[in-house]
Amino acid sequence: MDVQIGDFNLHYEIIGDGEPILFIHGFPLSGEMWRPTAERLADRWKCIVPDLRGHGQSSATTEASMTRYADDLAALLDKLHEWRPAVIVGLSMGGYIAFEFFRRHRNRIRALVMADTQANADAPDAAARRETLAQTVLKDGSRAIADAMIPQLFSQTALQSARDQWHAAISQTSPVGVAAALRAMATRPDSTPTLAQIDCPTLIVVGQHDTITPPAVSEEMHRAIRGSRLEIILTAGHVPPIEQAGSFTGVLRQFIEELG
Ligand code: MLT
Repeated sequence: MDVQIGDFNLHYEIIGDGEPILFIHGFPLSGEMWRPTAERLADRWKCIVPDLRGHGQSSATTEASMTRYADDLAALLDKLHEWRPAVIVGLSMGGYIAFEFFRRHRNRIRALVMADTQANADAPDAAARRETLAQTVLKDGSRAIADAMIPQLFSQTALQSARDQWHAAISQTSPVGVAAALRAMATRPDSTPTLAQIDCPTLIVVGQHDTITPPAVSEEMHRAIRGSRLEIILTAGHVPPIEQAGSFTGVLRQFIEELG
């Protein structure tokens, strides 16, 4: 389904019925990455699965920021008349957005799930690399980002069919949306001070072989977020919901069930 939010058209899917879970995908992916998880949870929960602006089937804007992405999601919940606090699940860039969502829309959160993400901002050299990539993508198209990202997203043991599917999907993603997201990540705030402020149940999940946000980064977040739980998904890389959907959904289901 599609809904107009301010200056763009946001595409989303609702899978299942029950208490709400809002899924925020990583870069440069789309809500499609959550399908195996959402379908497994549809028996008990209402899974709200948007495509962020400039990704998947949502339209692109030249400007993006963690603030805009977070406010887009709050606006989507408004449009859906979903006033109940939701479990917010963010993977990687989706986690950067979840931190912003926590700062801006705390009352809409029942619990947080931070998957394969990190709290820190980009170091200057990383931000500069993103700007170079943004310019390359705007000039040559999104295939350049697909070529760069696929080897980093997946572990050695990931299925070739998953790599091929996501290489094709990323190649078709709007270069304007990809460049805007790269610039948004390069200028995102440092969320490290937020860790001590998190006051809702929090699950941290990470793939054992994640090289973009390695398990050590999640262990640090786990120590800094009071009462948080840490789960490591064996054999997975940066995207456990794609590579190990069964294990990922298992830890998510258990965490949400224990919320009561
Ligand atoms: C993501 O998976 O969302 C990105 O790899 C995050 C990043 O590049 O910092």
